[in-house]
Amino acid sequence: MCGIVAYLGDKEAQPLLLEGLRRLEYRGYDSSGLAVLNGKGLEMVKKVGRIEQLERALGPNPLHGSLGICHTRWATHGKATEVNAHPHTDASGKLAIVHNGVIENYGTLKKKLIEKGFQFRTETDTEVLAFLIGFYFDTLNSETENRLEMAVMEALREVTGTYGLVAIHQDQPDVMVGARRGSPLVLGIGPHEHFLASDVAAIAAHTQTVAHLRDFDVVTVDRQGYRLKSLTHNAPDESGLEISQIDYQAADAEMGDFPHFMLKEIFEQTLSIQNAVRGRLNLEECTAQLGGLNLSPQELRDIDRIVITGCGTAMHAGIVGEYIIESLAHVPVEVEWASEFRLRNSPLDRRTLVLVVSQSGETEDTLGALREARRKGHRVLGICNNVASSLARETDGGVYMYAGPEISVASTKAFTSPTIIFVLLGLLLGRMRFLSASQGLQIIQAIEALPDQITQVLKQSGHINQIAEKYSYSRSMLFFGRQMQYGIALEGALKMKEISYIHAEGHPTAELKHGVIALVDENTPSVFLCPKDGAYDKNINNLQQIKARKGPVIAIATEGDEEILQQADDVIYIPDAPEYTAPILSAVALQLFAYHMAVILGRDVDKPRNLAKSVTVP
Ligand code: AGP
Ligand code: GLU
Repeated sequence: MCGIVAYLGDKEAQPLLLEGLRRLEYRGYDSSGLAVLNGKGLEMVKKVGRIEQLERALGPNPLHGSLGICHTRWATHGKATEVNAHPHTDASGKLAIVHNGVIENYGTLKKKLIEKGFQFRTETDTEVLAFLIGFYFDTLNSETENRLEMAVMEALREVTGTYGLVAIHQDQPDVMVGARRGSPLVLGIGPHEHFLASDVAAIAAHTQTVAHLRDFDVVTVDRQGYRLKSLTHNAPDESGLEISQIDYQAADAEMGDFPHFMLKEIFEQTLSIQNAVRGRLNLEECTAQLGGLNLSPQELRDIDRIVITGCGTAMHAGIVGEYIIESLAHVPVEVEWASEFRLRNSPLDRRTLVLVVSQSGETEDTLGALREARRKGHRVLGICNNVASSLARETDGGVYMYAGPEISVASTKAFTSPTIIFVLLGLLLGRMRFLSASQGLQIIQAIEALPDQITQVLKQSGHINQIAEKYSYSRSMLFFGRQMQYGIALEGALKMKEISYIHAEGHPTAELKHGVIALVDENTPSVFLCPKDGAYDKNINNLQQIKARKGPVIAIATEGDEEILQQADDVIYIPDAPEYTAPILSAVALQLFAYHMAVILGRDVDKPRNLAKSVTVP
């Protein structure tokens, strides 16, 4: 689930591995470790905590060798301790593996190995896999040419679960074997060197030539090159890997002058919104063009229901999307958590379009939902940022966000980009139904106004910081929004809890009266999303209900609304915008609010506790 980097080439492995690991830091982790193979055998160091700890431990005595593996762990089985950190060795101590994912049947496998007399040292599922590979390695004749590859394949045939893994063995000192099922692994190809990594970010500074492994691929790298096999058939895979050149600038994944990636990414939204829209507006026909959907006009016209699914922030964007598409295109939309959708037997008919939303394109629950929908024969489209992801490969088409790398664990660009893509989709489907050309044009103008309007919100960063300071005593916060702002209340609360650790809840505004109001007191601020829209008067009513109970109120209101100053304790203004683009502006305001709060409270903004960037475990 977290980070893997492996190197085999003509350089010293350790510095390259550590650099790669640092580039994967953003994914969130609790411990790390590194192993190299050299004339002395297998040497390994592991540490709990930050990569600096590992670097410090290696500092005085670097490990020498030109073949090595390293890992950042996000614990799923067993506590975050040094002994549970990866790499894990087999019983002989000569084989080491790094692994992302979960070995679901590790209990059964462990029992079998214990019966054979093996003794385990850790609580992890990964160690069981290391022992199993080691067991097969030792049963093979020492003359066997592909001994490590064969042992890995034998072991993986017994495994249920997910893995991206790399194995090395002291008795085959010039070989590394990588395998993938459900957890990404990419092969980087350079002159006289190869990398295996869970994310191109780790290796992009060294090579732009990469091949993404597919599920069940097993790749064996030696000093001559690499060879591909598949677990589904034993013979060398003649189809080979699809090699591509990545367009990934390592600098995109650097902070520049910003103190945190999150702030950098909040500010990048003026650009990421433009990237999501570029080339997708048709001014002549006053509509949107989304070629990647791979749907004919007739097929688009025939869609009579849309189901949107995703997790976390992606799901919140879907909730805003539901209101946007229904209002612009009059197509019924439902939104469901991917984790629920994948298990629920929801009746969909053949004219239902399923839309999966994900920044990483590797979220396990989202992929589960995608696969379940496809299994039932539905057309599934993706809204995704990572063009090389499993989601991008497995969907029938879709729309890329083109938001650039998102490093901060707390998602920002990957909320506003799908939201604007929903506006494009609403426009496209609406223009095929009942929207006139002039209405289409108005929508286009509202979209085009967004980058400047986002800049206006960003300029208030200082003011928002002061408000955060004022309320930094809070132990709990409430967020309220109606209609298109309801998803923003959820997302605002998620951002706040993720990075500041303040308890925060988002609710549809009117639900206040049905229970939440019991939480209101003078120490519990409420963030009220009340831009000038059709629900304004109702919102003010609810706001007063909070004030009547001494609850402090921070209002997100439309510029020029003077009345709100009499009602709320503090106001953050957003530019005047139609109800379908206003959520993007209020989202940016609440991202800044959460960001400043987290900085004031001294939190680790980019790497909040317990969270991982991409959740590839169920
Ligand atoms: C966002 O701030 C969260 N860290 C998380 O909810 C995230 O949005 C979710 O895990 C989905 O990720 P994805 O977009 O990569 O699928
Ligand atoms: N399941 C493994 C463990 O708990 C791998 C976790 C990860 O993907 O980082 O160690």
